[in-house]
This record gives sequence, structure tokens and C-alpha cells, in this order.
Amino acid sequence: MKSLGPFEIDRIYCGDCVEMMTQMPDASVDLVVTDPPFAIDFRAKRSNYNRTQTRVLEGYNEIPQDQYYQFTVNWMNEVYRILKKTGSMYVFSGWTNLRDILNAIEEVGFVTLNHIIWKYQFGVYTKRRFVTSHYHILFVAKDEKSYKFNKIEHYPEDVWVIKREYWTGKIKTPTKLPVELVKKILLYSSDPEDVVLDPFIGSGTVAVVAKSLGRHFIGFEIVREYYEFALERLKDVQVEMFSGVKK
Ligand SMILES: C[S@@+](CC[C@H](N)C(=O)[O-])C[C@H]1O[C@@H](n2cnc3c(N)ncnc32)[C@H](O)[C@@H]1O
Repeated sequence: MKSLGPFEIDRIYCGDCVEMMTQMPDASVDLVVTDPPFAIDFRAKRSNYNRTQTRVLEGYNEIPQDQYYQFTVNWMNEVYRILKKTGSMYVFSGWTNLRDILNAIEEVGFVTLNHIIWKYQFGVYTKRRFVTSHYHILFVAKDEKSYKFNKIEHYPEDVWVIKREYWTGKIKTPTKLPVELVKKILLYSSDPEDVVLDPFIGSGTVAVVAKSLGRHFIGFEIVREYYEFALERLKDVQVEMFSGVKK
């Protein structure tokens, strides 16, 4: 089994990702896909996206607004160091924290390749403003000349219309990414056997999709309940027969 510093690949770990990433070797990861915590007064127990409150896990770890920029620079600096020269990162952001994310991307030294809009359903009802029904995905690279990009569609546009998943009757974390969305990213920006990292793994979607596509994965999560939930999901994953890109 290959390892990255003290961490085995194809495993997820419970703890602070910044602390854990500092122990990973330079240039050891091919792709980072991550949806970092927000800096707003987000409460997992509220009925987000019309879900039944009792089935939503508690303990979401948010970051105070005044610490958000420094927190972002800290984790991104580590990501930059551990990415290979051919590596890239997709970072998810709502518009509330977008300014901090964009500034951190520039400060850390990433090159921005695309600003993707993910359009979803289930926007929260509003009275005096438009309903937010999109998310931002910043696609950035370490080196503009050598990052990996499998052009699997002839005309790949930067607005993606993908539905959020509704999990009937199961316990859910409040911000789970759709499998279809993560799959698209992995097919474009990684190959089988590549190492895919999500430092903020939440319910484990990035690791689950990486495993199903025959990629290696590593993930970190600070909230134990989420970590255990992600572990359970990973147990059931079957590797798809075809997980590469036709060249
Ligand atoms: C927006 S959620 C990620 C959701 C995930 N993409 C999914 O599909 O379920 C962000 C996650 O980061 C975790 N988190 C916050 N601070 C962290 C830290 N310092 N280290 C590791 N995880 C952290 C939160 O507990 C939360 O589960």
C-alpha cells in the first residue's frame, strides 16, 4: 500500500486538515476537489434545503468571518505545496465567501483557469431578493502549461446544470455534493491511479467517487460524526468497469 508521509492512501482521517497536510510530502497529489467550510452563521440543524431536521447530522464546523481569509490562505498554501506540477484544484464557494477565496487563490500563487457556475435546484425561498440557485467552482492550476485536462466533450461549457441529490429516509450531512458533479470533475482532471485529495471531506463524496472511478483517494474531516458517516459510505462503493477516458 502506497503512503503519503504518515498517511496511507485510499483512507480518510479524522482531524484538522491543515495540521495533517503539513505532514504530507511535496508534489504528491494529482488533484484536489474541495468544498471548504463557510464563514457564515450556518446551522446544520436548521431545515436546509427542505430536509427533515432530525435526519441531518449535527456538528458542522464553521469558521468565524474575521478568521476566514487567513484560514483559507493556510489550507491553500499546503494544497499548493503538496500538488504535483501537473496538478489542479477545484474549490467550491458560495458568493458570501467568494472574495476571500479569490484573493487567497492569487496570494498562494495558483493560476485561475475557469470560474465555473454550478446551477442547482432547491434554492432557499426569499421575499425581497432573487433565490440563490448557483454555486461557484474555481478551477485553478499550479502550472498553466502542464496541468492535466482530459477533454471528454467537444465543447465543454463553464455553466453546469446538475441537480442536488435528495436522500430519502437516510441520515444526511447538510452540504453533500452530487456524485454526478464530482464525477465530471474527476473524469476531466484525473486518470485512473491518480491521487485525489479532499481536505474537507464532509460526507465523503469526493472519496466515494474517486474510489468508484479507480482513482486513489485521501480525505480529512474534523467532525467525527461526519468522518464516521463517510467511512460507512466508502464501505459500499463498487469500482466501475470503465473508469478512464477514451483517447
Ligand atoms: C462544506 S462541507 C464539505 C461537504 C462535502 N463536499 C460533501 O460532499 O459532503 C465542509 C466540511 O469541512 C469540515 N471542516 C471544517 N474545518 C475543517 C478542518 N480544519 N479540517 C478538516 N475538516 C474541516 C466540516 O466539518 C465540513 O464537514
